[in-house]
Amino acid sequence: MSGITKSFPGVRALDGVDLEVLPGETHCLLGQNGAGKSTLIKVLAGVHQPDGGAIVWQGEPVSLKSPIAAMRRGIATIYQELDLVEGLSVAENVFLGHEPTTAGFVVRGRAARTATAALLRRLGHPEIPPDRLVGALSAAQRQIVSMARALSHDVRLIVMDEPSAALDPDEVDNLFRIVDGLTSTGVAVVYISHRLEEIRRIGDRVTVLKDGRAVAVGLPAKDTPTRDIVAMMTGRTVEYVFPPRPEPARVASTGTPPVLTVEGLARQGEFAPFDLELRPGEIVGLAGLVGSGRSEVLETVYGARRPTAGRVLVDGRPLRPGSVRAAVRAGIGLAPEERKAQALLMQESVTRNVSVSSLSRFSYAGWLDRRAERAAAREATRALSLRPDDPDARIRTLSGGNQQKAVLARWLLRGCRVLLLDEPTRGVDVGARAELYAVIRRLADEGLAVLLVSSEVPEVLGLADRVLVLREGRVVHRAPAAELDEHRVLDLVMEGSPTP
Ligand SMILES: Nc1ncnc2c1ncn2[C@@H]1O[C@H](COP(=O)(O)OP(=O)(O)OP(=O)(O)O)[C@@H](O)[C@H]1O
Ligand SMILES: [Mg+2]
Repeated sequence: MSGITKSFPGVRALDGVDLEVLPGETHCLLGQNGAGKSTLIKVLAGVHQPDGGAIVWQGEPVSLKSPIAAMRRGIATIYQELDLVEGLSVAENVFLGHEPTTAGFVVRGRAARTATAALLRRLGHPEIPPDRLVGALSAAQRQIVSMARALSHDVRLIVMDEPSAALDPDEVDNLFRIVDGLTSTGVAVVYISHRLEEIRRIGDRVTVLKDGRAVAVGLPAKDTPTRDIVAMMTGRTVEYVFPPRPEPARVASTGTPPVLTVEGLARQGEFAPFDLELRPGEIVGLAGLVGSGRSEVLETVYGARRPTAGRVLVDGRPLRPGSVRAAVRAGIGLAPEERKAQALLMQESVTRNVSVSSLSRFSYAGWLDRRAERAAAREATRALSLRPDDPDARIRTLSGGNQQKAVLARWLLRGCRVLLLDEPTRGVDVGARAELYAVIRRLADEGLAVLLVSSEVPEVLGLADRVLVLREGRVVHRAPAAELDEHRVLDLVMEGSPTP
């Protein structure tokens, strides 16, 4: 791709970008939220038509008019926001958009199921049933289906836009095995991720985007110092990623009564009785794999799931079980994991998405004070450096990481007393992460109590005061974050030797 430009109303998303990908290489695309990564690969996938520039594919200038046109040439994409049809089966999704006949026979029914099963086996996930509805699958399984769809064509290039964001460490390992398998047969992979350690593991070369321009092209992925990469992405050096933790003595000050108390909370088949006391100013991290019950615990505390045992108390007063209203009224907020499905109003403005849970604050006698709503929302989004800094931008036009920040801004604005954060930095770039961590710590210093779930162990260890390690629905370890290291937590998460 050379000199690619692409503008949206009011934004120049790509400003003359070059990208060169060789057969059999893993080419990583790096850049801050909103740098233009997804836009670039959507041009390559035929989703967006570029305003200028040229694409040369296997030596030949091409114009990719549609995703199907790109697919037919052997360019497949696994999107950041997966584009599967929930109401169709796995096999139907995999063969969606194929020619009605492949190799002379109609790919329907049984043939599609058999072919899909073979692809799923090749991807290391034989357990996914080809006739299961995609809507019933987990995020990780959906991604595998998306990958099976890519492989159902004769691909020469696969683009993966933050594929690891929804995956556990062992699933990431499986993904990397798949990538290795593909590249060893000459298939090229374009890989987008905010996790630099992944780039080190599988990348061959790196292109860095900043504000719609390529600021570095074809750097060696293994040997370019992290400092340099971060500086190219952000235009500055990010020194302190995690804010300093307050004195343990202050946090553990048993003098302050807990704001949140969880007593023997359990859901049959999901997680065993769970106890927790959370004090104002404290950040407690829940570490564990996807499926260990982390999100379920948060959602049950929030009242979105009804517990089969135990209770949740705020300021010592029990909440009505299974009632989100009761939890919210008592000052509990949840920033959920699957933002798109659970949290964002895609057609609405940034302002409305941020203010939606606090509208009563801006309403007087039935009138909404739009100016106050906008001003308050803007303050919250600026605290997170949300881009573009435009309160009227539609949420769907924001980059993935910036959509994420909008959800967090919503809870900052609500001013809750207990904040439950599920994967708060998924898809957020390194620079913004540091800002986000600082905001979370500052809120805690102002008296907020935070319960944090993250699959990124360094994040839990860096941000939390105390850590609870969950495995298969059980707390297998509790310790101050300062007493743990990443290795130890991963051991506990995977093997789970119980607390002595
Ligand atoms: N459909 C659209 N309409 C208007 N603006 C858009 C649209 N899609 C993207 N943009 C804008 O283009 C810019 C680049 O966005 P893009 O999604 O490519 O970023 P990204 O590098 O993928 O970021 P992230 O890491 O957050 O996913 C952003 O300013 C974004 O708001
Ligand atoms: Mg993106």
